[in-house]
Amino acid sequence: MGVLHPDAFKLTDADKQHFLEHGYIKVSGCFPPEAAEEFTANLWTRLGMSPTDKSTWTKERTNMPYHTHTLAADFAPKAWSAICQLLAPEDGGEQEGDERISGGDDDKWRSWSDGFIVNLGTPESEKKDIDNMDEDARLRNAGVWHVDGDFFVHYLDSPEQALLVIPLFTDIQSKGGATYENPAGLTPWFKPTDDATETREFFEALSADKDKLPTSSLVEATGKIGDVYLMHPLTLHSASENLLRIPRVITNPPVVLREPFNFDREDGRYSLVERKTLRELGMEGGLKGWAIEGGRRGWVSERMKRMEGGTEGGEGRGWGGKGELEWVVIVLVRKEKLVFTAVEEDTAN
Ligand SMILES: [Fe+2]
Repeated sequence: MGVLHPDAFKLTDADKQHFLEHGYIKVSGCFPPEAAEEFTANLWTRLGMSPTDKSTWTKERTNMPYHTHTLAADFAPKAWSAICQLLAPEDGGEQEGDERISGGDDDKWRSWSDGFIVNLGTPESEKKDIDNMDEDARLRNAGVWHVDGDFFVHYLDSPEQALLVIPLFTDIQSKGGATYENPAGLTPWFKPTDDATETREFFEALSADKDKLPTSSLVEATGKIGDVYLMHPLTLHSASENLLRIPRVITNPPVVLREPFNFDREDGRYSLVERKTLRELGMEGGLKGWAIEGGRRGWVSERMKRMEGGTEGGEGRGWGGKGELEWVVIVLVRKEKLVFTAVEEDTAN
């Protein structure tokens, strides 16, 4: 499966503690610039734009369809090792985490694709006075705050997206279109409710609430080519304006579990991701009596339907300009009681 030797890369205690406190870690140098260059070699041809002629940059953000996949464990072994360790019991190590991850057809879910997410900014954003901006407003009003995964109905233990993964295929500076994440955004939307839907306005209002989400907790996913952010799957995040107009390229490869997260493990061998969820719920000892008690609803979003006929120009994604937003119900079930519902919409990071 391409797994590293158990001693090849180990998350430090500081890494683990950072994940438990902040819900994410940044793993540096997971693949060399040369590998990124090779992987993105035909990006500009596919876009129909020139990297050196901004007049050809006719779209601010583009979610490109994918054509090829490469095993993450081969392309970015350090990142894959970290992913496995975050999904393994702490005493289980990388191999046990790897065994919890599903492969899908042709190991597609264990692979990273060339479905690049490109943020080029706009001529208008380039004219802004970036040295004298209201930083709070810039960060808080970045874009559409959301949680990823518009291809399934979310439950607290949903296996479909076990981590939010962001490999950096370009260097990304502050104000350069990085994904903004607000790790403090996990807890505020964990709430008991009988209403099975929330709207985009719910997340927008949440992100604007300084009491619930202090700007100080906001993180710009900046870094160097080859860095990889690994975030708790329910981290509130947003695309941002590329004020620098230095091309920014990332992807969002999936990580899929074979079995749903388990929040009532008799042996207490929770993964770090599970521990973070439990910590956010204030139930670090586990959700006693947790059990899946009903069927899961299926969901195919309009974005997925459009992706079937997607083009390089990104018409397959919402940024293609259709202006159509679609809400996916997120349902968190705690024991017998519905705990939370929220939204996902058609967006790019
Ligand atoms: Fe996202």
